[in-house]
Amino acid sequence: MKGIILAGGTGSRLMPITAGTTKQLLPIYDKPMIYYPLSVLMLAGIRDILVIAAPESMPAVQGLLGDGSRIGINLSYAEQPEPRGIPDAYVIGARHVGAERSALVLGDNLFHGAGFQDLLREAREKDNGCTLFGYPVADPERYAVGETDREGNLTGIEEKPARPRSHNAITGLYFYDGDVVEMARSLRPSARGELEITDINRMYLEQRRVSLVQLGRGFTWLDAGTFRSLLDASQYVQVLVDRQGVRVACIEEIALRMGFISGADCHELGLAMGNSDYGRYVREVALALS
Ligand code: DAU
Repeated sequence: MKGIILAGGTGSRLMPITAGTTKQLLPIYDKPMIYYPLSVLMLAGIRDILVIAAPESMPAVQGLLGDGSRIGINLSYAEQPEPRGIPDAYVIGARHVGAERSALVLGDNLFHGAGFQDLLREAREKDNGCTLFGYPVADPERYAVGETDREGNLTGIEEKPARPRSHNAITGLYFYDGDVVEMARSLRPSARGELEITDINRMYLEQRRVSLVQLGRGFTWLDAGTFRSLLDASQYVQVLVDRQGVRVACIEEIALRMGFISGADCHELGLAMGNSDYGRYVREVALALS
């Protein structure tokens, strides 16, 4: 199974913070934002991942993550010259994905909650259709919004509706079968001039090939696209670190737990981070788990 992280866009809603860097490299408390979506794909057991970024931010993104070998994964890169829409990930990533199944995650989405890894495993094992993840939000008009029947099956989906029919947002994590590339290629821009991921999801829905996984109230999903949500996300992570002493989306720890690297490799990575608290945590985890 292949993975894609879509980390392009202009970051205009976060100017001037994004004037000299890209949104997905901004810190969410103790680590760059892109670690969070990367950790989702790693937890799903996906090790062959394409990172899509804007040309001007590519050197910084590549400089941060490299070829992935130090955390036991394979990262490749492709430029998105302009933010043409989320499905563009599959036009740009057509060669990377081929006819395989894949997962796409948006570079500013943060997921955290008990049992998430099991949900990811189930989505990964499904070989026909697509899996979407729904999450209740107070401001559904900002997202794709799903409608469900009494059994929780998805019956409709609308992108940023002025009058949402539910509070159930469709998050920025998508699992697709091998048909998605052709579907993405067939899309035309919407009224707002973008290719819409909701149009692809609606095609799967029309074919009755969508599974909607409901992320419950005990789960956290955040997207860090505004000043407020950037701060909210940082504070959320800080509370967890301070209270539990565990780190969310620590890619070195995940690589070790998933068996992608050895304890000794993990310890080396911790040492390379000098005396930062994050580096110390990586070293402690390496010693505790090996
Ligand atoms: O976060 C979930 C939501 O993401 C979904 O509910 C919506 O269906 C989906 O359209 C999307 O809505 P957003 O308004 O958040 O999309 P936005 O344009 O802000 O893009 C989300 C991220 O993807 C952002 O970090 C930039 C990146 N992006 C976006 C586009 C359109 C790209 O890298 N390239 C693009 O062409």
